[in-house]
Amino acid sequence: MGSFAFIVHPIELMDVARKFPVAKYLPKKLVEYVLRHVAPFKLSEITGVRSEYGSASGWFISCPLTPGMMLSMPEEKVMNKIIDAAKLAQDLGAKIVGLGAFTAVVGDAGITVSRNVDIAVTTGNSYTVATAIEGTLKAAQLMGKDMDSAEVLVLGATGSIGRVLALILAHRGHRLTLTARNVTRLERVARQITKETGMVPRITDDVKQAVRRADVIFCVSSAIDVLIEPEDLKPGALVCDVARPRNVSVEVKRKRKDVLVIEGGIVKVPGEVEFNFDFGFPKGHSYACMAETMILALEERYENWSLGRSLTVAQVSGIARLAKKHGFEVAGLRSFERPVTQEEIAMVNRNALLNDTNS
Ligand SMILES: NC(=O)c1ccc[n+]([C@@H]2O[C@H](COP(=O)([O-])OP(=O)(O)OC[C@H]3O[C@@H](n4cnc5c(N)ncnc54)[C@H](OP(=O)(O)O)[C@@H]3O)[C@@H](O)[C@H]2O)c1
Repeated sequence: MGSFAFIVHPIELMDVARKFPVAKYLPKKLVEYVLRHVAPFKLSEITGVRSEYGSASGWFISCPLTPGMMLSMPEEKVMNKIIDAAKLAQDLGAKIVGLGAFTAVVGDAGITVSRNVDIAVTTGNSYTVATAIEGTLKAAQLMGKDMDSAEVLVLGATGSIGRVLALILAHRGHRLTLTARNVTRLERVARQITKETGMVPRITDDVKQAVRRADVIFCVSSAIDVLIEPEDLKPGALVCDVARPRNVSVEVKRKRKDVLVIEGGIVKVPGEVEFNFDFGFPKGHSYACMAETMILALEERYENWSLGRSLTVAQVSGIARLAKKHGFEVAGLRSFERPVTQEEIAMVNRNALLNDTNS
């Protein structure tokens, strides 16, 4: 039987109160102080991951820091805590550990962590890319969008997820714009895309302007503040928000009935999986990054699959192939933690048409 662990962390302080209700009544500064001093701990046991070819079980481990804390504390302290969490995984008996959300963003995206433990480490970013693309193409099809003429934007295009995602979209021939803050890095990614695919992506550090022009947006930035507000989006836009914390304001849900925002990278896990920890998903579903760790455990392939910021197309297609073999599936579309219905998609299209005509 395969064995794995996955490191999670609170996305905001409210998440701490879900596990420890007393936190709701304490001042923010005190909760942060306590979190800084709490060692990583076992959150729950995960059982029942089963495919035709094997089974696996594991643990969720909490690295009790929010993204804001991880970015404001000295990097060495944060890295040490993530390494301690990975060591706990090793002590529990896991043979591979996955790094969730910001534990994969801080520093060098898992490379240093892997040098400090004797088990395999993966960020899960390869499978996140595969599922974000699959889910978005499915949504585009349901919306009747012509992806050949669509302006596709990758927000956070120089990151671990964004760079390889943009490369795959370019290989598919989409009209691409890449955005992030650092133009030198954007130019480097654009040059590589042109060299490998012949496509010439547009680049800009003006995120707002790029968002306003885009028909389809992949949000994969590690910004801790919202980057897309209701007024920024074009009528009929399709947005796949992979980022955690989200890049898209929740206000978009209320104010823009003419755009579709879907969650990126949600999958149905094979077997009768029990996570014994509520991270807000329907039963049996997980983030793709968690799933990558489970897939490698099922396959008993204990290797550092996705590390660093230079992931390859082969890593993405390789994990997607293994996922299919073991029966992992991209879940139905979800938007702001709710399933998206065909009626809602039809409503978005109707409103987009109206708003487009009126503008
Ligand atoms: N849903 C899932 O299953 C899942 C799985 C894994 C990761 N994630 C999330 O995906 C996101 C990206 O992860 P990653 O590992 O690819 O991160 P990363 O390697 O650190 O890359 C982050 C990218 O975002 C850009 N960026 C950061 N702040 C920005 C800002 N304020 N405005 C515009 N661009 C900004 C960075 O470029 P500049 O620094 O030049 O701006 C870079 O291109 C994170 O939020 C992570 O938590 C989600």
